[in-house]
Amino acid sequence: MNAKKVHIKTFGCQMNKLDSSLVCSALKDAGFILTEKVTEADVVLINTCSVRQHAEQRVFSHLGHLKHIKKSRPHLIVGVIGCMAQRLGQELLDHPVVDIVAGPTQIPQITDIVTKTIENKKKTLAVTKKIREKSPTPSSLDALELTCDSDKNHLPRQAFVRVMRGCDNFCAYCVVPYVRGPEVSRPPAAVIEQIKKLARTGVKQITLLGQTINSYNYSAGDKTYRLADLLEMASQIDDIKWIRFITSHPRSFDEAILHAMADFKKVCPYLHIPAQSGSDKILKAMNRKYTASQYLELLHTARDIVPDIVIAGDFIVGFPGETDEDFQQTVALVKKAKYKNCFVFKYSPRPGTGAIKKLTDDVPSEVKKQRNTDLLEIQNKISAEHNKHFLDKTVEVLVEGPSKKPHLNTAQNQNHPQLIGRTAADYIVVFNGPQSLTGRFAKIKITKTSPLTLFGKLS
Ligand code: 5AD
Ligand code: SF4
Repeated sequence: MNAKKVHIKTFGCQMNKLDSSLVCSALKDAGFILTEKVTEADVVLINTCSVRQHAEQRVFSHLGHLKHIKKSRPHLIVGVIGCMAQRLGQELLDHPVVDIVAGPTQIPQITDIVTKTIENKKKTLAVTKKIREKSPTPSSLDALELTCDSDKNHLPRQAFVRVMRGCDNFCAYCVVPYVRGPEVSRPPAAVIEQIKKLARTGVKQITLLGQTINSYNYSAGDKTYRLADLLEMASQIDDIKWIRFITSHPRSFDEAILHAMADFKKVCPYLHIPAQSGSDKILKAMNRKYTASQYLELLHTARDIVPDIVIAGDFIVGFPGETDEDFQQTVALVKKAKYKNCFVFKYSPRPGTGAIKKLTDDVPSEVKKQRNTDLLEIQNKISAEHNKHFLDKTVEVLVEGPSKKPHLNTAQNQNHPQLIGRTAADYIVVFNGPQSLTGRFAKIKITKTSPLTLFGKLS
């Protein structure tokens, strides 16, 4: 068989981006050639997201686009992988353009699946039948995770490392537990071995990934390893300079994680901890299992233990039954939480979830839209005020590379391109500097600020 060219397109979260890089790595090892050009590909894989309906609609319109390409390249194999594949299974395979449907748990077998589909000239369905019942085993994904030298799609000298898979929380709106299955934590030795390997390739910053990373839990003999233990072990790896972890759930958030952040200076003082709502009634309906005041109390404790901690959050507006008063409680929480930034999403009913079964999507879409805009505006004002404190201060950044869209910067040095860097606490910093700084640490003096960005010059 001639070397086949594969193009992969990724939708969704960091978990999906990481899955895509594992798929690329596995296919490359098996002799496939990766291509950026969809028009010259023999195989197109779409790694999909099911969290909101909009993400699924985009995949369907992409499939429509591939239908045209397939007309002139009839041998083209189209695979849909990831969350949507697991959610829709056969229904997706019945789509005229789709040849492969493979869920997130089938990623270790992706090379076999693609090869067999090419050889047999038959459609392949590879999803897990009763995903919630599948007993958690130390999966073959671990082996794949370890052979993947680095996340090639990612930024220079940065890498993501998965520490757990799945989710057991069953938030009423969320599809993740049904498409990614039960929580399974990877053995700490495997995680640490992988980070050491990444460090040997020059990686300086790692981000530990898990849907609810603070529930990381691995028992070996009489020792139980939690996230704080992993953070401590990772901090001992010489060449790693910054360690982050995403995403945390406010329920049963272990203070030891905060102490690890305070004690080990490599652990970045950044916490992404979604509140989702500020109304106790809505939080209960969402099955979040905490109240607004418990959430704020947790932020208070976090700031007590880690005074320089920077916090980011997520919110869903327009969840079923959300009144203006409930929304005002969310606004009040945002004002008290003092986030660096927050992500706001309009509620999207997802098939199979608790909310779609029991509740009516009764908030009109214009109201969802308005609440989304209002909440972001409020947060923007808070961020703008807060960011002003950076003026004339010097921050350290890890340089990500040239800025994709040029920003207006008052401190321009036109001899150099505009670069983007990020601080340990996740602030985005724009400055002019030599491209050779990419992947290196640099000190930047801040000369201007905006709600989402700091601007400055090399100092
Ligand atoms: N509708 C809207 N937003 C959602 N999220 C998860 N499920 C939904 C949904 N059905 C949001 C949550 C989560 C983020 C990743 O996506 O805020 O934290
Ligand atoms: Fe979804 Fe809730 Fe699990 Fe996050 S914690 S992945 S929102 S079910």
